[in-house]
Amino acid sequence: MNKTGIEDICQLAPVVPVLVIEDLATAVPLAKALVAGGLRALEVTLRTPVALDAIEAISCSVPDALVGVGTLRKARDVDKAARAGARFGVSPGLNHAILDAAQAAELPMLPGVATPSEAMAAAERGFDLLKFFPAEANGGTSVLKAWADPLDGIRFCPTGGVTAENAIDYLSLRNVICVGGSWIAPRSIIQSRNWDRITELSRRACSLMASREGSAE
Ligand code: 3PG
Repeated sequence: MNKTGIEDICQLAPVVPVLVIEDLATAVPLAKALVAGGLRALEVTLRTPVALDAIEAISCSVPDALVGVGTLRKARDVDKAARAGARFGVSPGLNHAILDAAQAAELPMLPGVATPSEAMAAAERGFDLLKFFPAEANGGTSVLKAWADPLDGIRFCPTGGVTAENAIDYLSLRNVICVGGSWIAPRSIIQSRNWDRITELSRRACSLMASREGSAE
């Protein structure tokens, strides 16, 4: 169930926006702006005091959004996030207590990995769709290309240093299902409440899908 769920979520669009919401009042308009541009799977990171409330607000008020919880570092946060309305979880690392909690809560999960050993450990448990983090700092597309044959069957959502410019390089790889990134919702644009700009960035991110279809490696 976890595997199917997370695959469907990652296939909604080429990019999962990574959101840091500091002001709860921005959560709903931000989510609406992203959905208007075509991005529906939204990762709200647990990095601010209002993150859980933001998940709840988006879940209640933006029915077309599929809100997830990011930066999961403690198993106890899995249930809190699921109760707030999170429909998927993302973790920067591989933590078995978090995976146990996610499986118990039936929360589709994207665990983070940075090495083949971690990817193999996750796949052994049935998680074969993984966040490669931090992607650029860990070698970026070269590493993912090198993993494609030996880690055949494991696919990745590279995140961390992915930008509007290099996203297509990642999306062209056969072991990449989507990418994650904060460039679609930069802090300065959220603070200035320029929702039209967010929608434009979201639309451009969605259009990466078209570029991707002709460039498979
Ligand atoms: C994450 O939480 O996944 C990353 O911090 C996002 O990385 P970025 O800001 O480089 O996109």
